[in-house]
Amino acid sequence: MNQDEKKRAAAKAALEYVEDGAVVGVGAGSTVHFFIDELAAIKPRVDCAVAASAASAERLRRHGIPLADLNQRGQVDVYIDGADEATGNLHLLKGGGGALTGEKIIAAAAERFVCIADDSKLVRKLGAFPLAVEVIPMARGHAARELAKLGGQPQWRERFATDHGNLILDTRNLDLADPLKMERRINQIAGVVSNGIFAARPADLLLLAGEGGVRRIG
Ligand code: 5RP
Repeated sequence: MNQDEKKRAAAKAALEYVEDGAVVGVGAGSTVHFFIDELAAIKPRVDCAVAASAASAERLRRHGIPLADLNQRGQVDVYIDGADEATGNLHLLKGGGGALTGEKIIAAAAERFVCIADDSKLVRKLGAFPLAVEVIPMARGHAARELAKLGGQPQWRERFATDHGNLILDTRNLDLADPLKMERRINQIAGVVSNGIFAARPADLLLLAGEGGVRRIG
């Protein structure tokens, strides 16, 4: 099984958690694209989807899956999203695709958060993957200096703007032994919109696809 086959297997397994009439939160990234393709097969059963990124919204639209604005729906029944890293206690590192702020908002509004991933994403400790920090453009220099004071090595993701018109600082070398503490600390930096640590609102369930099938953690 190659990585894409595993991503598709995890995406397919997530359908089990989409109940009839559900408002489905849809994250971002390639694993989620597989999920959207699977969701298309059961679209008459769902109420609507709420998308975390413009790219996911576009793919949902192309499949004819009804889309809603989170402000209209408020509550999301189930949120399906991928991750760059996941731990056994369901803390995640996300934002490789730069959609972290939309992802955080929908995760926060969701009754249940199901993370889908191939088994290469499971780690003992978060932080080998660079942490995405979304910043307001005028805060780029200040936020980078503050991240450096925390021990990080921030790098501006050049020629990239988020769906909200902001910038990403990909930050290596931070000690994420206490992910909740670091998530909160980084959010206190002036000009930071959000960061890719999902510890305050972790996943409720991780569907991890490997050679032996899909493992359920959580
Ligand atoms: C996007 C994300 C994605 O969930 C994360 O990057 C995983 O992507 P993929 O499914 O392509 O491996 O957080 O901001």
